[in-house]
Amino acid sequence: MEIAKSKKPGELLNWDDIQKMKYSWNVAGEVMRLSPPLQGAFREATNGFIFSGFFIPQDWKPEKFDPSRFEGNGPLPYSYVQFGGGPRMCPGKEYARMEILVFMHNVVKRFKWEKLLPDEKIIVNPMPIPAKGLPVRLLPHNAFLFYFFICTEFL
Ligand code: HEM
Repeated sequence: MEIAKSKKPGELLNWDDIQKMKYSWNVAGEVMRLSPPLQGAFREATNGFIFSGFFIPQDWKPEKFDPSRFEGNGPLPYSYVQFGGGPRMCPGKEYARMEILVFMHNVVKRFKWEKLLPDEKIIVNPMPIPAKGLPVRLLPHNAFLFYFFICTEFL
């Protein structure tokens, strides 16, 4: 909203605005950590072990939604590999980042968003998608109330 407020009416986002959206990108990163678009690009404990007095069980992966884990220097190299790593790392990463942030910005700026199916399941076919197409109620910040369905095909 800070970026939205800094723009004149009708002024579009530019590259510098995208660079400032660090928190939004942390949120997107946390979503992709919990539900990776490319299955298999995650890390989990292959064996149980004790670290600083805490027992980390086998197959464990933190499930708490916490975008702040990407603040500061972010995760250790190769511990978060949503876009792969090394010379074959995803060349579409920056394009994907821009597209996701522009989409998030425009939705948040214009609407309050409520899921119609709070417990909608995610199916993997082969990419993870909401089972019912993610029906949402979009409440425009400054207009009348209406219903809108976003089908994952259009995202
Ligand atoms: C959220 C969106 C995306 C995610 C999570 C993603 C993830 C990945 C991952 C994990 C890899 C494998 C990297 C590795 O082997 O280390 C990859 C490779 C690749 N991605 Fe993406 N990607 C995304 C969007 C895109 C987009 C938008 C494009 C093209 C415009 C793209 C093009 C490619 C290509 C061509 C490769 C193969 C690179 C190579 O083998 O040299 N990706 N992506």
